[in-house]
Amino acid sequence: MNMRLKLNGDVVTIDTQPDAFLLEVLREHGLTGAKEGCAVGVCGACTVLVNGDPVSSCLLLAGQADGADVWTAEGLARAAPHIAAAFADNEGLQCGICTPGQVVSAYALLQKNPHPTDAEIRTYMAGNLCRCTGYASIRRSIEAAANA
Ligand code: FES
Ligand code: FES
Repeated sequence: MNMRLKLNGDVVTIDTQPDAFLLEVLREHGLTGAKEGCAVGVCGACTVLVNGDPVSSCLLLAGQADGADVWTAEGLARAAPHIAAAFADNEGLQCGICTPGQVVSAYALLQKNPHPTDAEIRTYMAGNLCRCTGYASIRRSIEAAANA
């Protein structure tokens, strides 16, 4: 199928299979920020924005995403660079595997709630797991992004 997306602000057409997952479509298109962690919708490493909401791209079929407005961490690095910068400045990452997904979810949170409380950050980010940094520094990074 020819999948038509608005991808990081640009209209693109990608030749793919309808039963391919959006995560593999994006990665084969060169956008390798989103990672396959669990592949079952639990870890958040594959999070991208689909029509404004954070979505596990490992679970969304290309056919379901056809026509969507998709933003990845690469696009947000250009559109909202202060979020990734806040993670870098506040020790919000170590190995970086989870970080693109964390940044995408943090962006979505701050779009809906520009100054979230610590409890609101904990709740919203519960679907983004990190096995090495520690969640306190991730929450501190999001607070710094909110105040940037
Ligand atoms: S790889 Fe998609 S949620 Fe873990
Ligand atoms: S920075 Fe390594 S898993 Fe989060």
